Amino acid sequence: MSKNKYEYKFGLLGVGKMGSAILGGLINKEIYKPEEIVIYTLEEDIKEKYKKQGINIANDEIDLFNSSSVTLMAIKPQIYDSVLEKVKGNYNNKTIISIAPGKKIEYLESFFKDAFIVRAMPNTPALINQAMITYAVNNESEEEKIEEAKKIFSSIGKSIVLEEWQIDEAIPLNGSMPAYIFKFAKDFIDCGIGHGLSEEKAKELALNSIIGSSLLALSSPDDLQTLINNVCSKGGTTIAGLQKLEENGFTTSIQACFDACVNRSKELGK
Ligand SMILES: NC(=O)c1ccc[n+]([C@@H]2O[C@H](COP(=O)([O-])OP(=O)(O)OC[C@H]3O[C@@H](n4cnc5c(N)ncnc54)[C@H](OP(=O)(O)O)[C@@H]3O)[C@@H](O)[C@H]2O)c1
Repeated sequence: MSKNKYEYKFGLLGVGKMGSAILGGLINKEIYKPEEIVIYTLEEDIKEKYKKQGINIANDEIDLFNSSSVTLMAIKPQIYDSVLEKVKGNYNNKTIISIAPGKKIEYLESFFKDAFIVRAMPNTPALINQAMITYAVNNESEEEKIEEAKKIFSSIGKSIVLEEWQIDEAIPLNGSMPAYIFKFAKDFIDCGIGHGLSEEKAKELALNSIIGSSLLALSSPDDLQTLINNVCSKGGTTIAGLQKLEENGFTTSIQACFDACVNRSKELGK
């Protein structure tokens, strides 16, 4: 199969939360023109919406895979087996990107003979082009294809390459991290409300403090422990709170959360 055999440059299977964020990023950043994109989804209203924007609609999953040079799968891991059974075949000179937790390159290769495989893990800040994406590939010598995958990822955020086994281990740090941060912020905001602040002001204070602290930590030469120490003056307010976090098992809870998240990712891949 030659490169030119694929009618469209980019194909997307599944246009849910992640798929629509990626599609939006690709169009807004003009990585591909709408007419270079083909999608397949089960929902008629979504097909209509994107058709109006000049995006092509595949007839089914097989048509999508056969017509796109790069195909990104944004469907749930639970339906991979049934969908991949339908579309399996020889895909010479084609790139397949999977963003499902636990679905290994070896598993994907068993369905897609000769394809260049990218296993990636994004997160929901993709919705505002601030995703943190990890990825691994099945052939590191395919530089052009790696560049194209990175270009796709750049439309929704930043990407870093990992060893494949590290993708599951890193999921708490990127794929699932937004939920943990939201939970952390929500608990603090709820306490603020309990202490008499309005929800609006508590939210503004907490969320902007999280942004500012992240930006400080990313730009500072100091390590995180030094940055923690810098806020904790002896006998002060912060240290009083931190001691309570530790007494109440904060670090142990984070470790249990991390392990459960990684283990679930591995289970989903079985
Ligand atoms: N959301 C996250 O934070 C996140 C983070 C990292 C990775 N991911 C991964 O990204 C992938 C997509 O997740 P999501 O959150 O975007 O899920 P989602 O919102 O449920 O989107 C999946 C979409 O695929 C559609 N679909 C189901 N079967 C299909 C088929 N045969 N052909 C085409 N479309 C089909 C679904 O339609 P119906 O709803 O009608 O079934 C739904 O619209 C998953 O593998 C997920 O694990 C998600």
